[in-house]
Amino acid sequence: MKAPKRYTITAALPYANGPLHIGHIAGVYIPADIYARYLRMQGRQVLFVCGSDEHGAAITMRARKEGVSPREIVDRYHEINRNAFEQFGISFDIYHRTSSELHHECAQEFFTHLHNQGVFTEKESEQYYDPEAGQFLADRYILGECPKCGHPEAYGDQCEKCGSTLSPTELINPRSAISGTRPELKKTSHWYLPMQLHEEWLRTWLNDGQLNDKPHHDPKEWKNHVLGQCRSWLDGGLQERAMTRDLDWGVKVPLQNAKGKVLYVWLDAPIGYISATRQWAADHQLDWKPWWQDEDTRLVHFLAKDNIVFHCIIFPIILKSHGAYILPHNVPANEFLNLEGKKISTSRNWAVWLHEYLEDFAGKRDELRYVLNSIAPENKDSEFTWKDFAERVNNELLAILGNFINRVVVLSHKYYGGVVPEAGSDESDYGIEENIRQCPVEVARLIEGYKFREAQQRVMNLARLGNKYLTETEPWKLQKTDPRKVQAILNNCLQITANLGVLLQPFLPDTAERICKMLNLEPEKTGRWSAAGSMHLLTTGHTIGAAELLFGRIENDVIDAQVAKLKTEDSVLHQESSTQPVHTPQLADISFDDFTKLDLRVGKVLEAAPVPKTDKLMQLLVDTGLDKRTIVSGIAHCFTAQDVIGREVCVVMNLAPRKIRGIESQGMVLMAENSEGVLTFVAPPANWPAGSVVR
Ligand code: 2FM
Ligand code: ZN
Repeated sequence: MKAPKRYTITAALPYANGPLHIGHIAGVYIPADIYARYLRMQGRQVLFVCGSDEHGAAITMRARKEGVSPREIVDRYHEINRNAFEQFGISFDIYHRTSSELHHECAQEFFTHLHNQGVFTEKESEQYYDPEAGQFLADRYILGECPKCGHPEAYGDQCEKCGSTLSPTELINPRSAISGTRPELKKTSHWYLPMQLHEEWLRTWLNDGQLNDKPHHDPKEWKNHVLGQCRSWLDGGLQERAMTRDLDWGVKVPLQNAKGKVLYVWLDAPIGYISATRQWAADHQLDWKPWWQDEDTRLVHFLAKDNIVFHCIIFPIILKSHGAYILPHNVPANEFLNLEGKKISTSRNWAVWLHEYLEDFAGKRDELRYVLNSIAPENKDSEFTWKDFAERVNNELLAILGNFINRVVVLSHKYYGGVVPEAGSDESDYGIEENIRQCPVEVARLIEGYKFREAQQRVMNLARLGNKYLTETEPWKLQKTDPRKVQAILNNCLQITANLGVLLQPFLPDTAERICKMLNLEPEKTGRWSAAGSMHLLTTGHTIGAAELLFGRIENDVIDAQVAKLKTEDSVLHQESSTQPVHTPQLADISFDDFTKLDLRVGKVLEAAPVPKTDKLMQLLVDTGLDKRTIVSGIAHCFTAQDVIGREVCVVMNLAPRKIRGIESQGMVLMAENSEGVLTFVAPPANWPAGSVVR
């Protein structure tokens, strides 16, 4: 397929209400940065935009908590985050902010245009108002008793204890978070987006990529979990959503009769991508419009899964309703990254903060980029542990990539004074030329398919091949007897090194730069993707620079200190939060008859073994009294086979058999899971007879 004329790449605007953590970086900014850097190397026109999201309850709540103004909060965190991104080397063309004058103008212009086209419907409704504070209350500003679980501190939009979604009027004994008094219902008018009117074209666009008879994208290229989320929104039926709020912090609604009203934050935030583009264009005396309005521009949004609906349904409705804008070509959203077995939590301080990493691990940006991209939650949630971080740095970056390059450069100096020797045949069969030739082609295909983990892995495989080749051909043993062969081997190794200097640029920009510098390769020559794939990147007679160590070992004590820091902070905070466990809401009632359809019995585990190549699955052989059957259970992250063999368990006998990883599972073993994801068996005491019926 023909490449588009230009790419507009957006990365979700982080709220300026707190610092960035590794979950943000792994899920959004590293993949977006790899993509942008790669496309630039391909000579494509790229605009990579981001900035701070400075409106909405996220900001005003934080300000209230700290007793300062929202302005103070956004100024503080905008600066911290802008700095952290810059220090980390995320190559935005602009890092803008939604509190800027230009953004307010741009969002207002957008709203006015939509309003004039009759896109919104104005409607009056009753909403909670705090007479003492003299203001309407956003959902998060209303507290009360949860109608589902009785929790006394539920919010107007959600109960954090049982997880139920609520609306403010459902709360029992509501009170204002501002004054503590009982709010009263008061009439107010808002502008709504009737999303239900857009269902049909959204469905066509998401299903076959077509719009106005033109293919806009290939839906096969979208991730399954992204399309799945979109379809379930559509299947659930879209509803109207208010696009304005009664608040004093935000973009003012640009209408006569709208005093005290601002735009809904999820209307103004994505317009922030456009205002960032306009600012960038103004700074460079360029036209911003083609980046958003020319059909030959490819718009790609990078974000995490909690932002999918806003970018795949609401923002496309806004863009299409305007009339002049293109729609996203892809939204390669990622899932979530967990940390040391738990969800990352800002409020509980269970996080590795980017700015702290940059301080504690100065000069090691690429190590974090490498590890986070290796474990990126591209299609399912994944997990960061400090132990794994150290292992990947020590066993992969240092032992393979760093070790290979260091040996090549040192040997080239030792034997040839740093002058590239002649190429030749070493008569070995490692397929080096072919591998070098294929590597940029395969990596390009993977990056353009948003498979950044695999793409990085492919480049590392070239380093792996080089390392193996050098180790096995042992040129240091041949130098006396067969110097021509050594020349050929080292020329091959130097070509691999030079190719790594090019191919690593999108993934590990600092390391790639250092490799190029070590080889005295000019960035003008090596900054293009097309430079890679050649066996002649280094010409015979070219003089390379001195060897430099690319990576240092991550020692255990460094990692232990990081884990200890996390745990100390967590245990202090956990004491507060442990009084408020998070419970899953109760499911809908079932009849007694439904219940009696379940056949539950006590079983005894006879054999157990983890299912290869899975993190959680264990294959069990269970004596159920009736028979001995195989059950596949997701428990291997909490138990070893030895923990399980000989245990009594409670078995769901009549669950229809199903294949899990090719193994037929004939039932299910009941477990209880706490809020941290830790499992324990639901079972009778030891030696209770197998086959006993559970009622
Ligand atoms: O979830 C968030 O952090 C939002 N601030 C993302 C906004 S993305 C875009 F629309 F601006
Ligand atoms: Zn509740």
